[in-house]
Amino acid sequence: MTAAPDRGAAPTPPRQGFGAPAARATAEPATPEPQPDSGPEPLGADDKVDLSQERAKAGVDDVLRVLDEELVGLSAVKARISEIAALLLVDRARRRFGLESERPNLHMSFTGSPGTGKTTVALRMAALLHQLGYLRRGHLVAVTRDDLVGQYVGHTAPKTKEVVKRAMGGVLFIDEAYYLYRPENERDYGQESIEILLQVMENDRDDLVVVLAGYADRMDVFFKSNPGMSSRVGHHLDFPDYEVDELVDIAGLLLTKQNYRLDKEAESVLRDYVSRRKDQPRFANARSVRNALERARLRQARRLVDHGGQVSKQDLVTLIPEDFLASRVFAPPT
Ligand SMILES: Nc1ncnc2c1ncn2[C@@H]1O[C@H](COP(=O)(O)OP(=O)(O)OP(=O)(O)O)[C@@H](O)[C@H]1O
Ligand SMILES: [Mg+2]
Repeated sequence: MTAAPDRGAAPTPPRQGFGAPAARATAEPATPEPQPDSGPEPLGADDKVDLSQERAKAGVDDVLRVLDEELVGLSAVKARISEIAALLLVDRARRRFGLESERPNLHMSFTGSPGTGKTTVALRMAALLHQLGYLRRGHLVAVTRDDLVGQYVGHTAPKTKEVVKRAMGGVLFIDEAYYLYRPENERDYGQESIEILLQVMENDRDDLVVVLAGYADRMDVFFKSNPGMSSRVGHHLDFPDYEVDELVDIAGLLLTKQNYRLDKEAESVLRDYVSRRKDQPRFANARSVRNALERARLRQARRLVDHGGQVSKQDLVTLIPEDFLASRVFAPPT
């Protein structure tokens, strides 16, 4: 499966972020169009490089701004991405002076619970690496064990290789990467896939960035049992669970994008919803918020249609408390 980037819409009020002046775009701050890297010109020993100019030229600020506007919180993740961008800019400048060094290792692990923004950040990262000329295509191929590992002898290698081939020039995002390794099963084909990935991560690091994603604790175990994998990962980014305030902000962002709003009372109901939902099973951070809004939208539609008669634009965009209160989350414990 190739994930399609979620294109963002209207920005929300200022949040913690890169500290860069947030341009309040009026139109969609869609992902900046990828521009092919023309290949930096070589420089002489007495030349100078203007890094801010290079940064602007490569569209780094645009990608970071979109990331900042599109994602609530995640300040540590945003800071790391900014750092990686700086590293690559400096590396590029060094190469123009003919300063040889190994290409920075860009394979990464993204750890965190479901719905904490890992896939979304991976998409932005792919765009950024493309802007900086590190990835030819800058697309993202998201896979899980089933896409890589076969069911019978001789099935796994071609499967893994096909996925790798599709991902070349971009980012290969392996969700719940630890499922590739099943120590309890001696003849597990996952190991074969790991071997191929290890090779590719070493030999094709100029053309492919691998992101291993999943829960932090399981990823730890995976890395301990697979030191080869661990040593090939250059950056570990941790995606913490969101606080209630952040989840409410995320809801605001998602609603604005879809041209919905909450009436005054619905705001506090949503906050109440989020704090309750957070403590219930299968809570998936921003994804649960997104799903809750989908259901509220459904209830709103039913309410408007059942009511009959005329509706105003205002009616069509407004969610009210009862659109949330009908949720199971508010049902008394049985
Ligand atoms: N910080 C955030 N701000 C706004 N929206 C967010 C944020 N984090 C996640 N989302 C939204 O929540 C949804 C789930 O995010 P995403 O798929 O990136 O999470 P994930 O960590 O990859 O989850 P999973 O492990 O379940 O695949 C997406 O629609 C994304 O846009
Ligand atoms: Mg995901």
